[in-house]
Amino acid sequence: MSFNNKTVLITGGAKGIGGACSRIFYRENANVVILDTDPLGQQLAVELGERALFILCDVSKESAVKKAMEEAHQTFGGLDVLVNNAGIQRYSTVTETSEEEWDLVMNVNLKSAFLCAKHAIPLMQKQGQGVVVNVSSVQAFISQQTVAPYVTSKTALLGLTRSIAVDYGPQIRCVAVCPGTIDTPMLRSAFELSSDPEAVYQECVDMHLVKRIGTPEEVAELILFLSGKNGGFFTGQAVRIDGGLGITIAGSKKE
Ligand SMILES: NC(=O)c1ccc[n+]([C@@H]2O[C@H](COP(=O)([O-])OP(=O)(O)OC[C@H]3O[C@@H](n4cnc5c(N)ncnc54)[C@H](O)[C@@H]3O)[C@@H](O)[C@H]2O)c1
Repeated sequence: MSFNNKTVLITGGAKGIGGACSRIFYRENANVVILDTDPLGQQLAVELGERALFILCDVSKESAVKKAMEEAHQTFGGLDVLVNNAGIQRYSTVTETSEEEWDLVMNVNLKSAFLCAKHAIPLMQKQGQGVVVNVSSVQAFISQQTVAPYVTSKTALLGLTRSIAVDYGPQIRCVAVCPGTIDTPMLRSAFELSSDPEAVYQECVDMHLVKRIGTPEEVAELILFLSGKNGGFFTGQAVRIDGGLGITIAGSKKE
């Protein structure tokens, strides 16, 4: 399916899952707008070519989001797909989490999706259609320990997904994508917090029924499918892409 003359905006599009989305939508002929706080996004835009635009933007700030949407719209004259992918991970339980840390995770993982949708949907409505994809996590359904703000933000994204689908359908579709463990810079830095990163990597591999972790490209291909015509019957749903993570009862699977 071609994204000829379509404009796709990806938050956190400089690297990881967002970086793979930037590359894959570009491959499908879309105009690609990368919003990121990491200037690496500029390198990626240059590497991709003239249909790619990088905007340095903290997507947790409304004024920055509004300005970025206007710039994207002026440059490409439309907006067809918004991928709310930017996210951060912090490690703490409820009693260990400071108010600042809680607000930071909520603002980057959840408020940013609300803000980007708020300013993207009117542009989509002007052209009569659009798709919003929210990158949540399997942690919206099952939870590891010591990531309370993250789990809360990813679960709330499913509520936001439903609300957008219900309030703006049928013109606008909204879906959530819930990845299992994916090999990205975020994951690699999480491994580095351990004294034995290789052992943690192996634990992650073993948790998935397919006995490997996922690639950013696998998630990006799903997002591409859900955003296009062939994904037209998906809305309001959470779609898991997790290699079977969390579907066995602990200890029930014999090797
Ligand atoms: N990697 C995994 O195992 C995994 C699993 C499930 C869900 N996810 C989710 O997928 C999304 C992408 O994760 P990833 O692993 O590719 O992470 P990553 O850290 O590798 O990439 C995230 C990108 O978001 C950008 N970003 C962070 N804060 C931002 C902000 N305020 N404004 C704009 N950009 C910002 C970063 O600079 C980075 O380029 C996140 O929402 C994450 O929670 C990841």
